Amino acid sequence: MMKKIVLLYCILCVWACSGEQKKLYQDPSVSVDRRVDDLLKRMTLEEKVAELCLLPYYENKDSSLREMVRQGKVGAFLKANGAVLNRSLQEEAMKYSRLGIPLMFHEDVIHGYRTITPIPLAESCSWDPDMVERSSAMAATEAAAAGIQLTYAPMVDVSTDPRWGRIMETSGEDAFLGGEMAKARVRGFQGMDLKANNTIMACVKHFAGYAALLGGRDYQNTDFSLRDLQEIYLKPFQAAIDAGVGSVMCSYTSYNGVPLTMNRFMNHDILRQQMGFKGLLMTDWNTFNHALTEGAAIDGKDAVTRGVKSGMEMDMSSGQINRHLVQLVKDRVISEKLVDEAAAHALKVKFQVGLFDDPYRYFDADREQKVLLSEESKAIAWEMATKSMVLLKNEAEVLPLAKGKRIALVGPFATNRNDLLGSWSMMGRAEEVVNVQEGMSEIWPEEGVMTLGCRLDGVSEKYIRSAVALARQADIIVACIGETSYQIGEGVTTAKIELPQEQVELLKQLRNTGKQVVTVLFNGRPLVLNEVLEHSDALLEAWYPGTMGGKAVASVLCGEVNPSGKLTQTFPRHSGQVPITYNFRRTFYYVHHTDIPEGPQFPFGFGLSYSKYEYSDLKAEKDSLKLEEPVIVTLKIKNVGKRTGREVVQLYVRDEVASIIPRERELKGFQMVELAAGEEKVVRFELSPAAFMLLDAQMQEVLEPGVFRIMVGPNSADTQSVKVVYIAE
Ligand code: GLC
Repeated sequence: MMKKIVLLYCILCVWACSGEQKKLYQDPSVSVDRRVDDLLKRMTLEEKVAELCLLPYYENKDSSLREMVRQGKVGAFLKANGAVLNRSLQEEAMKYSRLGIPLMFHEDVIHGYRTITPIPLAESCSWDPDMVERSSAMAATEAAAAGIQLTYAPMVDVSTDPRWGRIMETSGEDAFLGGEMAKARVRGFQGMDLKANNTIMACVKHFAGYAALLGGRDYQNTDFSLRDLQEIYLKPFQAAIDAGVGSVMCSYTSYNGVPLTMNRFMNHDILRQQMGFKGLLMTDWNTFNHALTEGAAIDGKDAVTRGVKSGMEMDMSSGQINRHLVQLVKDRVISEKLVDEAAAHALKVKFQVGLFDDPYRYFDADREQKVLLSEESKAIAWEMATKSMVLLKNEAEVLPLAKGKRIALVGPFATNRNDLLGSWSMMGRAEEVVNVQEGMSEIWPEEGVMTLGCRLDGVSEKYIRSAVALARQADIIVACIGETSYQIGEGVTTAKIELPQEQVELLKQLRNTGKQVVTVLFNGRPLVLNEVLEHSDALLEAWYPGTMGGKAVASVLCGEVNPSGKLTQTFPRHSGQVPITYNFRRTFYYVHHTDIPEGPQFPFGFGLSYSKYEYSDLKAEKDSLKLEEPVIVTLKIKNVGKRTGREVVQLYVRDEVASIIPRERELKGFQMVELAAGEEKVVRFELSPAAFMLLDAQMQEVLEPGVFRIMVGPNSADTQSVKVVYIAE
């Protein structure tokens, strides 16, 4: 017996000395936090700093970037795509990394990866978090199959300015709805298991207040109040953090005059202490260098010192952390403890997505081939697109189009492919887009659709004459118009928010034929539509609907899908009204612009259906509110139309009197209700006391005694209300 014990002991010693035993950080059965701690203790300062370096991949810099990987200077890449390329980069890292630390690969998977879904603003108009979650999950499946483990989404900036090109990336003007969409996207991207090869880590951005721009000018530093920050801009971030988002990206802009890249109040006091975020914080593109350009830092050293001390962790593309951080620590300008905390967060996300257990999990070229642009992906993209579209006008129920009608399909979006993808359409390919002509032809027999498309810059007088001539041969006209997707997106701001005049002229002349005109609009933001509406019997807002956009448009126009989308951005009558929202803070006298009709063209939450819905019998279970009890509100909704439809029932709360001037009303809940023709349902809302709370003058969340109106309806301007009172106990 003794001999056996001695023999076993010797074997163990030999084994232990051979270094073959798993190090703790390499043991998947150990918690992520313990594995991170164990690995961190083994790392040099240089290796820790490398984890904070996020580099863009460029094919023409492949060899120099590989050299940096071999030298252990890269933590992660963005813009490196594809299982083959990313596997080869990972092989470099695993071959040269002393501790076997894998690379991670990030990308902007904003609304789809290869199969492109509608732009985020469009998706938000579905008011359908489950659908948005499925759309994000599909994007994650495709991106993960192509070697990506983290996406720079959801973007949760809250904008009220259609002049800002990035409004297309938002989920509308309401922070509550934006929060619901943020949660849906985080759930969709991250799924239930971040280590699965069909999920990716989300990165909520741009922290925070990016959309508070002057004149809609992108990147424009602005000053906004702490109240705006707390009441509006932070809300969707908190929703994403509560949903478990793994990373945050800061904004290009500033808060209280300090760039967010180096803003201790924001990056530490707010993000970590107030909001409880425990994941990785990264800069946006090159923002350490932007601080130099805008005179907010003396040099790279200054920017890195203030940035890292503020709690900023990963440096996207500026190279300043790579250049200065090791020396700054050696010179005791920056404590190594700060580097440890940052490196721990950068390592944690790699453990969370499973890269330490299998560095090649996401690099299967055969799987990539099968997964991208699959029939399943396309079906989800089509469904998302149909649910994002908003019916804005339907005179004499010209829609849905009756079968057997001869249709003239005209306009610059009749055969357009590329612009249906919208901005931030990652790996989407124009040639894979189903355009409107193809979508319509699938549903109508060939002879039913006569098509004459044109380029976006081709709406000439000659083209208009030809389109009118074709229209005269048809029973009804479908005019597909809109703005180029290059007119929207990052770094783009326009003074005008109208369509090109030649497109209005086209509509006008088509209408002069005396035929009914169904207009389909392709755009990425609210536009001024007075003249478009004047010359259209029906108007469908299709946004930039993605790869399956043309098929989705056809499905809605023919009635296969009953439109249920509702606007999440107010549409102004004139650009001079901007900003114009539904939830403005009340005042004692509303002064409207005297030179145009008052109010918006279309209010927040507006959208028509092929059915009609009647709201009735709204009541609150109790007319008094208690701190610990939810408020129960019920109402009836009946489909008095002729076809099954889905209606987004919206619930707003108005605080009649408060120590802080109340807003006009605020969205506090919504429900999607499906009703067959003639069917009536009872809809029940359960409101927590939080729905009636406000931030008082000391920015403390309080429930003040007083009268509240609970308003329910099909949009923010058309509601019935019931009163509840809170009497302090
Ligand atoms: C861009 C954007 C950001 C994006 C990043 C990486 O400039 O501001 O939203 O994720 O750079 O492409």
